[in-house]
Amino acid sequence: MERSKRLRATYAKVDLDRYIKNINYLKNISGSLAIATLKANAYGHGATELGKQLLKTGTSDFFSVATIEEGVTLRLNLSDKPKILVLGYVDDRFFEEVVKYNLILTIYDDEIANKYHRFLEKKAVKMPVALKIDTGMHRLGFKTNLDYVEFCNRFHLFDVTLVMTHLSSPDSDDAFTTAQMEEFDWYIKKYKIKNTSVLNSSAILKYKKDYTFIRPGIASFGYVYGIEDKNLKPVMSIFSKIVHVKNIKKGDSVSYNRRFIAEKDMKIGVLPIGYADGYPRLFTNKSYVYFCGYKAKILGTVCMDMIMIDLTNVPERYYNEEVELLGDNVSGYKWGDWANTIIYELLCRISSRIPRVYVSENGIIG
Ligand SMILES: Cc1ncc(COP(=O)(O)O)c(C=O)c1O
Repeated sequence: MERSKRLRATYAKVDLDRYIKNINYLKNISGSLAIATLKANAYGHGATELGKQLLKTGTSDFFSVATIEEGVTLRLNLSDKPKILVLGYVDDRFFEEVVKYNLILTIYDDEIANKYHRFLEKKAVKMPVALKIDTGMHRLGFKTNLDYVEFCNRFHLFDVTLVMTHLSSPDSDDAFTTAQMEEFDWYIKKYKIKNTSVLNSSAILKYKKDYTFIRPGIASFGYVYGIEDKNLKPVMSIFSKIVHVKNIKKGDSVSYNRRFIAEKDMKIGVLPIGYADGYPRLFTNKSYVYFCGYKAKILGTVCMDMIMIDLTNVPERYYNEEVELLGDNVSGYKWGDWANTIIYELLCRISSRIPRVYVSENGIIG
């Protein structure tokens, strides 16, 4: 990788080929089309760049985001081509933008249906919408007692392009997941609904179900919970460089609040990454980095902009090499364990201060 492209010693490499391979793999095993989940800046990877690659490779032209801002940004940065679904709440102040930027609104209760339909009546336009059905997540969605025929008649300016539900526990509760899908299947059968979407990442891998669209998020980035699948490869890796080396003596402490005390004389290195970059402070005294075949433990408290690592066993000739903080040798699952959370949250929180470098077989893209 060209050094001149790196704005900092610390950067994130986003492998576009791996991303496309992961999505194609999920499409193949499900036999469905994919709505690529690009919300939260594509879980921190960069929605625009991934969206461009999906379009360029013909992998998908249907994307989902969570907010109106995410939807408008994607539309402005991409072409008119992709369908862009906004999964979350959109305030009626933004209906103008929903129409202007041709976004698909999720209709999940009477209030939003009425408000949006009144707006469309005033404009005299018909717009695509997604209808959200709640089968047990108990987040957004109509209950399955919604009369679909009556809904379509009443809201005749809605072009219902998709009827969807969201699974609450495909990674942890098979009985509940099956019950959710059975309820949804009953509903779409009753009303002979054609365009459907149910499965998110772990459900795609665990259940052989035939809905029109899968909605892969985390698996497209290389991770999945509740089932192991070695075909998925992590898309983002984070690298840094040692910017300072020093010797410390037995009994010396490292970093804020002296949470690490050396039990022997040691060599330590400083890496320019900290919690302001999204390297969680909860990793204090827990995580390790991968360094030319060595696992180097981090020592003491994670600072805002720096961490210290143990170099005692690492030969000096490696000190100028790159250090991997996340990637093939330091798994995102470990990150989740160290911070007592899931990798979803941590990927979303990799801050914009870490430059993303996009690579593909053609080299660095940007
Ligand atoms: C409605 C909806 N669909 C799909 C997804 C993608 O889920 P996952 O990342 O588990 O594949 C999400 C993510 O939270 C979601 O909220």
